[in-house]
Amino acid sequence: CFYPNVSNAKLNFESIPGSLTDAVTVPPGYNAQVLVPWGTPLNAQGNTWQDDGTNTAEDQMNAIGMHHDGMHFFPLNNSDEEGLLCINHEYIDLRALHPNGPTVDNGLRTIVDEVRKEINAHGVSVVRIRLEANKWVMVDNDPLNRRYTGATEMDVSGPLAYTPLLVTKHSPNGNTARGTLNNCGNGYTPWGTYLTCEENWPGYFVNTGTQTEDQDRLGVSDDNTRYLWETLAGNAEELDDEFTRFNVTPSGASASDDYRNEANGHGYIVEIDPYTADSRARKRTALGRFRHEGCVFGNVKHGKPVVFYAGHDSRFEYIYKFESAARWNKRDAHRADRLSVGDKYMDEGTLYVARFNDDGTGTWLPLTLNSATTDGGTLSDHFDSLEAIILNTPGAADKVGATPMDRPEWCAVDPFSGSAYMTLTNNTRRTEGNSANPRVNNKFGHIIRWDEGRRSTEFSWDIFVFGAPADGDADTNRSGLTEFNQFASPDGLAFDKRGIMWIQTDNGTDEVEEYTNDQMLAVVPSPLMDDEFNQLPISEENQGELRRFFVGPNGCEVTGFAISPDYRSVFVNIQHPGNWPYSDDATEETPSDVDLRPRAATVVIRRNDGGPIGT
Ligand code: FEO
Ligand code: CA
Ligand code: CA
Ligand code: CA
Repeated sequence: CFYPNVSNAKLNFESIPGSLTDAVTVPPGYNAQVLVPWGTPLNAQGNTWQDDGTNTAEDQMNAIGMHHDGMHFFPLNNSDEEGLLCINHEYIDLRALHPNGPTVDNGLRTIVDEVRKEINAHGVSVVRIRLEANKWVMVDNDPLNRRYTGATEMDVSGPLAYTPLLVTKHSPNGNTARGTLNNCGNGYTPWGTYLTCEENWPGYFVNTGTQTEDQDRLGVSDDNTRYLWETLAGNAEELDDEFTRFNVTPSGASASDDYRNEANGHGYIVEIDPYTADSRARKRTALGRFRHEGCVFGNVKHGKPVVFYAGHDSRFEYIYKFESAARWNKRDAHRADRLSVGDKYMDEGTLYVARFNDDGTGTWLPLTLNSATTDGGTLSDHFDSLEAIILNTPGAADKVGATPMDRPEWCAVDPFSGSAYMTLTNNTRRTEGNSANPRVNNKFGHIIRWDEGRRSTEFSWDIFVFGAPADGDADTNRSGLTEFNQFASPDGLAFDKRGIMWIQTDNGTDEVEEYTNDQMLAVVPSPLMDDEFNQLPISEENQGELRRFFVGPNGCEVTGFAISPDYRSVFVNIQHPGNWPYSDDATEETPSDVDLRPRAATVVIRRNDGGPIGT
């Protein structure tokens, strides 16, 4: 390759047209299979999935969760054909989960097993899979198969651990939290662990009338919760502990008597060591508390700090960077005590929030007590500790002048150039543009890109591509998209190590929806450069390099990306399908006269000749 910082990968498939069918679509010469749909038992304690919704909470605790989202493949024994798939389960479809939907009586949940099943359908699955005769299969009963659910006890580390802010009746020392919820995007680390990101967790907690500043800022309701779990107040103490913990209204004399701090244990990046059976998940508070979408590391260099980027997915929210205090030691990539390596790089460091300046430069604004605020003071005028800043991360970011973005979703880093890309999925409430979010009523979203500067506080940025319908006017279709790559609402985003970037959509706008279901596109984002070797955004000259590779079935969102080390198997997730899948052949269309219980599932895409995907 002429430029060392640029991938020389070439896409070698024709962009496929959009599709509006109840099957997945892949390019000619490719095939797709369904793997580990919701409810697949992981071990002997889970019964076979029933199509009438009668599986129990116990079954669900031992089976694949619902609404697959972020995902990563961890090879076993350096194999390309055997590994652990870690899968996020973001939320639940109550009608599909139960025989007749949820039981709610006068606004109260009444059936213990039903609510437990809902909690158990959330979280993360770790599942061992292997390739057998060109088909990926789950390894039944493998000791590494396991679930982390909305009820699993986890450790908390970083600045908030062992502080009064995390003390509850259940955690008198303030060092544990129960469950991980609304696990949307994901990440992984250079030392071989999985990162799961807690996104819309505020919706699971309620505080009736005594809301704290962080609860108000982050959106904890003063009325009720998404699934009303907190209303299942049993008489037995253990039930009380299990469900009323979602009501964080103070009820006792002090924090150790009630659950006022229960929500403080949520909103984090959570680290899991997939390779160690029975290992506890660890919540990394140093990376901030907000609605985390994804978490990606910048390219690591021996002797330099490790950085992570993360977006807060909500309208007008921010983009964050965490920089470790410790400097990267390349030997840490191969240690067996992976969570201790995580302690080293993820518990101490500096959290920054992004300000995008109009001239294409940017500033990473640190969130520390002595950080300058826009009113001329410092954050110490508003917060009494770093822990307090972290607890209300977006509230602190408001005060230092961060740039409100159009819903930051996933981030991905180019393995060659180190450039970071982030999807800004849409923001129909924007009435005033800024240079980084220039479109008002941004229905179609865009992808922004930045490069780190010489100092930790500096970066430069541009907009890589604007989503749009192909027939949009020039102001709408700013990237010159055509029928073969029009898209809207970019969401999932990932690079593979060849330098191919994969863009997934979660679209809700008619202009593109009437042409195609949600999709995944591919691009090698370095085909054109200016005189100073800056990559140029997708334009009419190079937009042919953005190609549609995959289209999902009706009603779904395409999300989560994983790839085997030999690039011969790509894994994507189909979330909230309307009626799919009919069979384990993902390309087989569901008969329209069959009313099915839909199942989120992973889809594995392979080439018919077994060759590498995409090139
Ligand atoms: Fe769960 Fe922001 O998508
Ligand atoms: Ca998403
Ligand atoms: Ca989305
Ligand atoms: Ca989703």
